[in-house]
This record gives sequence, C-alpha cells and structure tokens, in this order.
Amino acid sequence: MTDKTLLAELELAQSLLLALVEDSGDDDYRRQFHPDLSPLGWHLGHCVYVECHWLHERLRGDASVTAPIASLYMPPTTPKPERGALLPPRPALLTWARELQDFNRHYLENLPAALAGHELLADDYLLHFLVQHHGQHYETMLMVLTQQALQAPAGDFEPAVPLVARAPDEGRVEMPGGHYRIGGEPPVAFDNEVPPQHAELGPFAIGIRPVSNAGYLAFMEDGGYRRGDLWDEAGRAWLQDSGAQCPDHWRRSRAGHWYGVGNRGPYELAPDEPVLGISHHEASAFAHWAGARLPHEYQWEAACRSGRLEQTGRAWEWCANSFHPYEGYTPFPYDDYSQPWFDGGHYSLRGGSLHTRPAVKRPSFRNFYQADKRHVFAGLRLAW
Ligand code: AVJ
Ligand code: FE
Repeated sequence: MTDKTLLAELELAQSLLLALVEDSGDDDYRRQFHPDLSPLGWHLGHCVYVECHWLHERLRGDASVTAPIASLYMPPTTPKPERGALLPPRPALLTWARELQDFNRHYLENLPAALAGHELLADDYLLHFLVQHHGQHYETMLMVLTQQALQAPAGDFEPAVPLVARAPDEGRVEMPGGHYRIGGEPPVAFDNEVPPQHAELGPFAIGIRPVSNAGYLAFMEDGGYRRGDLWDEAGRAWLQDSGAQCPDHWRRSRAGHWYGVGNRGPYELAPDEPVLGISHHEASAFAHWAGARLPHEYQWEAACRSGRLEQTGRAWEWCANSFHPYEGYTPFPYDDYSQPWFDGGHYSLRGGSLHTRPAVKRPSFRNFYQADKRHVFAGLRLAW
C-alpha cells in the first residue's frame, strides 16, 4: 500500500519539472547555458527515465521503455554538450513525459501483490527517493534558468535602494563541546547520511545567520578579490583563472550599483539576505578576511539541531570539509549516487536555498559540489 500523501508529493514534484519545460521555448529547452549544466529539457527526460528505471526495469524486469533512451538520460553516457541535440522536439517530450508520469503514479498506486516486501518498497523508500531526486533536479533547472537570465542582454535595471556594505554580522551561537549525533534515518535519508554517526566536537561558535549581501560587499570593497594573502594556493590559482570579482549572480547597474540576476531576471539585493553564487574558494577567502573559518559539516548539523540557527534554508552553505562516506557507508539504491563523489574534490554543503524543495531540507541532508562551482545557490556561514 503506497502512502497517498507521498503519491501527491510525487505528483507535485513531477508537475514542477513539467511546468518549467512548458514555460520554456522550442529552442531554449534544448540549449546548454552553462558548461556544468544540462539543457532544461534533459532534466525532465532524465527524471522520467529514472522513474521508469526503478519501476519498470528494476521492479518489473521490463526494460522496453528505458533501453532505447538509457544512453541519452544516464548521466555518464552522453556528454552534456551533446544532450540538447538528441532531445525529441519539445511538444513530443512533454507528451511523453506527461503520459509516463501518470502511468508511473498509477503503477505505484496499484502495485502488484507479488512485489510486497521488495526492499525498494519497504516504508515507501522508492517514493521518498523519487520525490527528493526530482526536487534536486528541479533546483538544478532553476540554476539553468538563472544562467539563461544572466546571458540575456543587460537591461537598464537600477535597484531602488542601492546595496551598501556593512561589517559582517558578529552574532554567534556558542556550542559546548561534547558528543553529538549526526546523520539521518531511512526511509528518508540518502545513503550518504547513514548510518548515524557520533561526533566528538570541541567547543565552537557559529554564525546565527549566513553571511549577508551587505557583509559580502564589505569584503569586496576591502579588496577581497585582490588580496592574495586571503586566498589559499588553490584559491589563488582559481582567482587568476576565473578573473572573478563578485558573486556569479551579481551585476553592476549603469549608475554603478550592484544587483542580482535570478531565474526571473534582475532583482534588488536585500542587505540582510544571504549572499549566493560564490565558490568554495570565495567562501574560504571571505572567512579568512573576517577572522573566522568555515564550519565542519558536523558542527553545522549539531548547531542546526540545537534550533538556534537562523536562515538555514535561504542559501546552501559551503562547509570546510570534503564530502566523505560515513563510517559504515553502504551504497543504496545504486553505487553511483554518492560513491563517485567521495573523491576529495567535492565539498559538503548544508542547509538549502530558496529554490530547494521542502522534501530535501533537513538537518542531515548533505549536498556536494567541487570547490570552483558558482552556479549553485550557495553562500556561507562563519565559524570560530
Ligand atoms: C547532490 C545535487 C549534486 O544533481 O548532481 C541527482 C543529486 N544525483 N541525480 C546532482 C543527484 C542523481 C546531485 N547533487
Ligand atoms: Fe538524477
């Protein structure tokens, strides 16, 4: 028996993916707007493919739907720049997606009795997985739309109230040293959140709020991007290479004021909103400049569980440590969900952005990206 509330959540997750492609253009849905991002239409096709892979190929043993499209929609097989040209025309993609999404929900609602007791279905694991999987792709699609908006010709947007720099917020939460429980629980948790860990943490302090736009501007105006001493070796190399001088989502108006560009175009940067669109290198340099450091993800989680952190769901927050397997990690439901990214080159991010679906926002959820990625809706919180 599949839980009705969860089925409704799946339906919502499916319709959100569909709506973004419905609102896109007949050429734009297959365009690649950023080297790290697939076209919008590919994400929809991939999410439908993933449903069919688990429901029909794995549960039912029928690969007739997935086999012909596996090479397009299985991430490692077709490189991102080739994906757009291989997509069906937009109306055909939409019709195909709608029909399979409906069919898949219907199948989940009326599962054959013979499948009762299948490990993928225990406690509705598969539904939780699909809702969260689609939610993550939905956020990535908003990154695609943000990059699209960033490439549109600069208009004449002027913020009504220009952003003014302000010294970083010193408000902190003091956390006592001790034994903290880290991690999540099945059926909601992903394989990289389990088994629960016991972390022995020394006393530390962590920012009540993430670093704000006004605080970040203070770093910029103090020459943060020009002062080599604030950056570590990898950061200096990245800075040289990228020529970055402000967050990825920031632009300067004709009058010389900073504004942001999001999926719906230009917007005013509110001084107290968390900064986003920065790499791990920029986050580290900012922390160094502020006389602080980035938190370890266990510190972040312990502080979050204390209920004393504010604004935990407005920007992803880069952590100091790289993404690693917990003691006792077992890949599930497939080897490559987390395993390939335990390569030392990916850093953990915690929290969530305004575009993160509620199903993915929890104290134990671990996101992960390489240090140079700036298209993610990510900022930072200081620790001391
Ligand atoms: C954890 C968000 C980095 O989108 O690449 C989606 C999640 N894994 N499908 C990604 C994921 C497989 C992943 N992130
Ligand atoms: Fe995926």
